[in-house]
Amino acid sequence: MKVLVTGGAGYIGSHVVKALGERGYDVGVYDNLSTGNKWAVLYGDFYHGDLNDAKRLEEVIESFKPEAVMHFAASIIVSESVRDPLKYYFNNVSNTINLLKAMNRFNVKKLIFSSTAAVYGLAKKIPITEDQPMNPINPYGVSKMMSEMILRDLSIANSEFRYVSLRYFNVAGADEYCRIGQAYKEPTHLITRALKTALGQYKKMQIYGTNYNTADGTCIRDFIHVDDLSDAHILGLKYLMEGGDSNVFNCGYSKGYSVREVISKVKEITKIDFPVEEVAPRDGDPPVLIADSTKIRDFLKWSPKFNSLELIIKSAWRWELKFKEIKDFIEN
Ligand code: UFG
Repeated sequence: MKVLVTGGAGYIGSHVVKALGERGYDVGVYDNLSTGNKWAVLYGDFYHGDLNDAKRLEEVIESFKPEAVMHFAASIIVSESVRDPLKYYFNNVSNTINLLKAMNRFNVKKLIFSSTAAVYGLAKKIPITEDQPMNPINPYGVSKMMSEMILRDLSIANSEFRYVSLRYFNVAGADEYCRIGQAYKEPTHLITRALKTALGQYKKMQIYGTNYNTADGTCIRDFIHVDDLSDAHILGLKYLMEGGDSNVFNCGYSKGYSVREVISKVKEITKIDFPVEEVAPRDGDPPVLIADSTKIRDFLKWSPKFNSLELIIKSAWRWELKFKEIKDFIEN
């Protein structure tokens, strides 16, 4: 079966491409390499292109002939979205519309969409179930909420079009053989920043906000291993191919860790004590995001294999050590 993966050279996309490839899917990757890397595409055909380039996109869809699309290509940094909302509405909303138009033109009717816990914003009840109202507090979350609404309306207007929207909580970790992992030029994510600080790539770690209404005053997140998230995509795809209706699923382990807890776990695993500074809160950060993952476990029979913060951090740490080795080799 042929699957086109937008953003397949990025962090999450490349892990899903690996999972698809390992299971024998025929993969096409469409990526503009703005944040992704061609070396991270372990399987399939690579097509360089931007979602804003309708001609190129249509040409690729027409020649590759996918039966389904997985759509990862997007901007994903909450704090950046607060500073530059138009970038987020353009890359995440307009480009999703471009993709849907091209799919429609060539009769591609199934989509797995990368959504986010950020759509919930200030959730009324923790853990968060999918039926809680979307209430995003940053442009990134709004852009994903808008995209989800577009998908919903399209599936109502055209009953043949079906999608699964996966709302990711905080994704971390790397491939077990360290072939791929997070490789952003400017990493902003908590675990990556902490590990790179342990490696000496930053002088200190900053905690954004210590007066939240949580046990230790710092934000709480639900961390999920990227390979478990990849499995959720494969299950979502099978569900659609077997005739499942459009649906939305949370992807998380239903367990939250505070920023302080994550940093101390990183110190314990790396055995490196690095300086940590407490600074003002970051704009747009919801205090607590923890998934209720009952629905995906029941509906898709999702059964995570790396359900532990320790496993996630160890896997990310192995990747950071390898990535540093490669970078040092190339640079010297
Ligand atoms: N944090 C720090 N210091 C850092 C980095 C992060 O204190 O150096 C804090 C943040 O303020 C936040 C928490 O750690 O409270 C997690 O921050 P991340 O940047 O790692 O992740 P976010 O929760 O902001 O966002 C990530 C993805 C989004 C996704 C969201 C879902 O980037 O795409 O998880 O929860 F929507």
